[in-house]
Amino acid sequence: MKKPVYMDYAATTPVAPVVAEEMCRYLTIDGVFGNPASRSHGFGWQAEAAVENARKQVAGLINADPREIVWTSGATESDNLAIKGSVAGRGNPHIVTSIIEHKAVVDSVRWLEEQGMASVTWLKPEPDGRIRPDAVEEALQDNTVLVSLMLVNNELGTCTDVAAIGERLRSRGVLFHVDAAQAAGKMPVDVRTMPVDLLSLSGHKVYGPKGIGALYVRRAPEVRIEACIHGGGHERGMRSGTLATHQIAGMGKAFAIASQSLDEECQRLESLRALFLESLAELEGVTLNGSETCRVPGIINLSFRGVEAESLMLGLRDVAVSSGSACASATMEPSYVLRGIGLSDEQAHRALRFSMGRFTTEDEVVFAADRINEVVTRLRGVR
Ligand SMILES: Cc1ncc(COP(=O)(O)O)c(C=O)c1O
Repeated sequence: MKKPVYMDYAATTPVAPVVAEEMCRYLTIDGVFGNPASRSHGFGWQAEAAVENARKQVAGLINADPREIVWTSGATESDNLAIKGSVAGRGNPHIVTSIIEHKAVVDSVRWLEEQGMASVTWLKPEPDGRIRPDAVEEALQDNTVLVSLMLVNNELGTCTDVAAIGERLRSRGVLFHVDAAQAAGKMPVDVRTMPVDLLSLSGHKVYGPKGIGALYVRRAPEVRIEACIHGGGHERGMRSGTLATHQIAGMGKAFAIASQSLDEECQRLESLRALFLESLAELEGVTLNGSETCRVPGIINLSFRGVEAESLMLGLRDVAVSSGSACASATMEPSYVLRGIGLSDEQAHRALRFSMGRFTTEDEVVFAADRINEVVTRLRGVR
């Protein structure tokens, strides 16, 4: 077993080896290095063919039409484009979102609010992290133009009932943006049956490269958004900039693999999750944060009574995890997501997120649980 054991797949996934190989084909003089927008020679045509093939592959995972996929630099940009692009040019727009969205959504919406470009209703989730469809409906106003909610929460793994929410928005003509960065490749996502208008995707959460993502923009009924990045008019004017062929080809390949292996991967992760929780069953005072039932299998957020997550992480040197409480800031603010579902600062400081993925093995899960048992018991003894 390779150590440290990686249990932070929700932060990023390793690029699948065949994906890395595929990417190399689009870089050098021997490969397809042309600019996909070059229309006057074969170098450009070949690169364009690679980009269009990848567009089909990404569309395939979410059952979209390839023409509904807009390349971006990642889910952060997709969120920005969906939110700012929906609101631009609209008079007196109102947005509905929640306080536990990813920062790419929270900060985009807050920026619009601070600039006086939109008014916002910030929804509070249920204690299990889910947003009630009724709460969304109650928040709608005559001038609501956009609802933005995530499908799977990145800290909790909890799923929101996007289908039920989308149904209520369709008849009101309100755009529905869904951040699916943590859902794609981890659960079925079908935009033909799911009433969403805009959906954010990220390459590096699905064993593809970092720095590439996509925004799904529905064609029927047609959704129109304004560009945030202006230039050569690429991506049907929605996102200018020379396309990163190698990253796009990598994301395409990664999404094609995810489509083929989705069921098997979900089942495997479900049993790893059960094994992990069983292996921790002897330990008292462990609480699961988020929904026990509406969730993806790979993300498990746990609080350990009487144990600071920072101390536990330091003790778990052979296991790479992330703390629900350690955000990027140097002040070690407790997680706004955990506080958002009603945890006290103290409880939030005791939470760790364990996330598993394609390369996680049973041995690794048992090893991690054994280490947690040991370190938590030791830390509790010290107190
Ligand atoms: C739910 C969610 N949205 C957006 C992002 C940002 O994605 P990217 O790193 O592709 O910009 C992440 C990644 O942390 C995420 O988990």
